[in-house]
Formats: sequence, C-alpha cells, structure tokens
Amino acid sequence: MSDFTPRVFSGIQPSGGLTLGNYLGAMKRFVDMQNAGTHETIYCMVDQHAITVWQNPEDLRKNTRELAAGFIASGIDPEKSILFNQSQVAEHAQLGWVFNCVARMGWMKRMTQWKDKAGKNSENASLGLFGYPALMAADILIYHATHVPVGEDQKQHLELTRDIAMKFNNDFGTDFFPITEPVIEGAATRVMSLRDGSKKMSKSDPSDMSRINLTDTADDIAKKIRKAKTDPEPLPDTLDGLADRPEARNLINIYAALNDQSPDAVVAEFAGQQFGAFKPALADLAVAKMSPISGEMARLMQDQAEIDRILKRGADRAREIAAPILEKTYDLVGMVR
Ligand code: AMP
Ligand code: TRP
Repeated sequence: MSDFTPRVFSGIQPSGGLTLGNYLGAMKRFVDMQNAGTHETIYCMVDQHAITVWQNPEDLRKNTRELAAGFIASGIDPEKSILFNQSQVAEHAQLGWVFNCVARMGWMKRMTQWKDKAGKNSENASLGLFGYPALMAADILIYHATHVPVGEDQKQHLELTRDIAMKFNNDFGTDFFPITEPVIEGAATRVMSLRDGSKKMSKSDPSDMSRINLTDTADDIAKKIRKAKTDPEPLPDTLDGLADRPEARNLINIYAALNDQSPDAVVAEFAGQQFGAFKPALADLAVAKMSPISGEMARLMQDQAEIDRILKRGADRAREIAAPILEKTYDLVGMVR
C-alpha cells in the first residue's frame, strides 16, 4: 500500500464567514504542507457539500470566490497547489455515487455531525446531508490522497473514509484505494470561542465577539481579544496549570499557533504574568498576522475574473488526476465503458 504518491487533499465549505478557527485549524496548516514540499497539495472549495443545507445562490457564488481569495491571501499559491471548486470536477460526484453504494446506513447514522446538523427534525433534513460523508470520502479518494489535514471535528468523517476505502478494496478484491491518514496536529486543531472555552469557535455562533473573522479590521481583532473571557489568576509555569482553565488555555493555544511555537514555550515565556499583560501581546500578534490577510482578501475580491481563471485552471489540473481514477473504479465495479 506504500506505492501511492504522497498527496494531500483538504476542503472547506464555501458557506460564508471564515474564522480564526478555520485559519489556524485548516488554512495555515494547508499552507505549511504546501511549502514543506513533501507532498502534492490539492485544496478545494466544497460547494456541493455546502448545498446539503440551503444556500442562497448569490451568496454561494460570493462565498466561493471569497473563500478562494482567503486561501490565496493565506498563502496558497495556485502554481504550487491545485485550487478549485468541487462542482467543476464532476468526478467527485461520480465517485460519490459509487461510495453511496459502498457505505452502510448504519455507518452514516452514527456520524455526530449528521446528528448535530439534522437535530430533532431529521425527517426534514436533505438526503445530501445524510450522504455528506460518502461524498467527502470521494473528494479524498478520487485523488488517491494519502494525507488529509483537518480540524478535530472532522476526525470521524476521516475514519469513515478509511472504512469506505477498506470495504471497497475488500468487496472488489483490490488494493486500489489508499487508507488515508488524517493529519490532526498542532496547537490549534480546536480553537474555542472567545466567550466560552467549552464551545468551538464557529461562524454560526450568534455572538460576533465569540470569534475573529478573517474579514475583521485590526481594531475589531484587538477589541475582541481585549474582551475575551479569562479568569483572574496569573499564568502558571507549566501547561498542566491550565487543565481547568479552558479560556486561558485557548488563548495560549492561539498565541502558539499564530507564532509557530509550542504552547509549552508560550506558557514558559509568560509564566506569572496577568492577562493584563498577556492579552495586549496576543492582540498585537493577532493583528500582525491576520490583518494583512484580510487586506489581501479584499484586494483579490476586486478582480473576480482573475479568481475564476485560477479556479478553472485548478479544476483542469485536478481532472487530469481524477479522470483515470474514476475510469479504473468503474472498471473494477464492472461498468461497461
Ligand atoms: P468548516 O468551516 O466547519 O467547513 O470547517 C473548515 C475547516 O476548518 C475544517 O478542517 C475544520 O476542521 C476547520 N475548523 C473549523 N472551525 C475550527 C475551529 N474552531 N478550530 C479548529 N479548526 C476548525
Ligand atoms: N466536511 C469538511 C468540513 O466541514 C469539509 C470537507 C469536504 C472536507 N470534503 C472534504 C475536508 C475532504 C477534508 C477532505 O470542514
């Protein structure tokens, strides 16, 4: 199974409103993997996943381009990485159908994201929302991707991707699909709300103070960090001292991830200090790292034709990898071509 090209795939839904959680948990790590040069890197705006819940068509178009601008502003280089939106490469949905026939209802019903998103009214949720993880498996396996960087919340979907690959390989007596490795590492795989250290930072939180948006101004960023919930204790000497202080731990993690340091090193540096000293340091760091990204995003959004050109070129490159893999899959399944 080791003769697969080292290849990274990951995706983000263009459902609007990128946060510091997306940036640190996903985009920044995508950029690091691109620049490491150890893998081919493929990054995708998963618009077909986005429509599993209602999207206003005009908003979807705008959010797809804004996400593309966010990727590029964060450091994704469309020459080094393949960058495109999912619906432009039909092979995702085509392989997704085959995987709908491999995955079992029982597997899907256990997905916590399905349970959370469908809620009590699951009879009224779309069939696409239920089948979402099979399409996600297809996104990854249509490129034979070996590694998938994601945040902690996607771990279960990655396990399901492995289960689908294994069942397909087993059912058809092949080792065609790789057993993909999730890459969930670093200080910021789960960035928490600035108002409540037990909740994930999310674009859907009703309080805008709970998150830093990629479009926030420098003043907004500094204000949100100044007002972030903390406790009256000084920072401890070691990370163990933060075990019961989720808000403090979150701010340390954010600092560490933004500054490419370990959380241990950050605690050691600020040991004994109050939040009155730590928060301004974090605010300065966050403004220095984040406001150039929002500025560059706004600049890129001025030229939508250029964004569309980049995505189209990315889609053409993606299809070159995906098409032969789909053909071979159909052949294995027994479809006459
Ligand atoms: P979403 O916007 O939920 O589609 O997420 C896109 C990517 O960002 C996925 O890889 C998520 O795991 C990651 N992500 C979203 N929110 C957070 C967060 N608060 N902390 C870390 N990663 C996150
Ligand atoms: N489900 C992912 C999320 O909500 C987005 C996604 C779709 C994805 N397809 C993917 C992530 C393939 C990684 C690989 O964040």
